[in-house]
Amino acid sequence: MVRAWYMDDEVAFPRKEHHRIPPKFVTLEELYKTSGVEYFHVSPDCYETDSTLKELIEERGNNIQQIVDNPNEEELKQHFTEHFHTDDEFRLVLEGCGYFDIRDKYDEWIRVEVLPGDLLVIPGGCYHRFIVDNQNAYKGLRILKDEVYQAHKRPSEDLECRKLYIRKLYNGAFDEPREEINLI
Ligand SMILES: [Fe+2]
Repeated sequence: MVRAWYMDDEVAFPRKEHHRIPPKFVTLEELYKTSGVEYFHVSPDCYETDSTLKELIEERGNNIQQIVDNPNEEELKQHFTEHFHTDDEFRLVLEGCGYFDIRDKYDEWIRVEVLPGDLLVIPGGCYHRFIVDNQNAYKGLRILKDEVYQAHKRPSEDLECRKLYIRKLYNGAFDEPREEINLI
């Protein structure tokens, strides 16, 4: 079961869980409604032949680039800088544990704990960041539509993909989960 929760305001020790007091957990359905972020489960050991992943890649066209992500300290710094991408970003965890922080509709951080087999699809234009946990054993896969992996740092409000995302978010595009999405 994937866990997600609203974060506290502490900036120190970003690899800790950062729960609020009392903790405020978020379901994957709530996460989708407030951000458009989708969750899928994929077999981490044989993801190359996993039918869920295959179908998603075909449906969304994220097939240009697959990057095995075993981030060093410098890359981790970049991942933890708030940013968005032009197109949807697929992130699949292969080993270890990490946290995706996603901005919700009201600009609050939701922290999503991800473990092997967890795949998040983060919509283009949605601010997010990523960090590994204290075990530092994370290995993952990024599957991208863009040939260039470009991160737009906050603020980048004038970009067309951001405007489109905001329109979708506030026009109820994510209010109802799509039928084929296997939200838990
Ligand atoms: Fe990203």
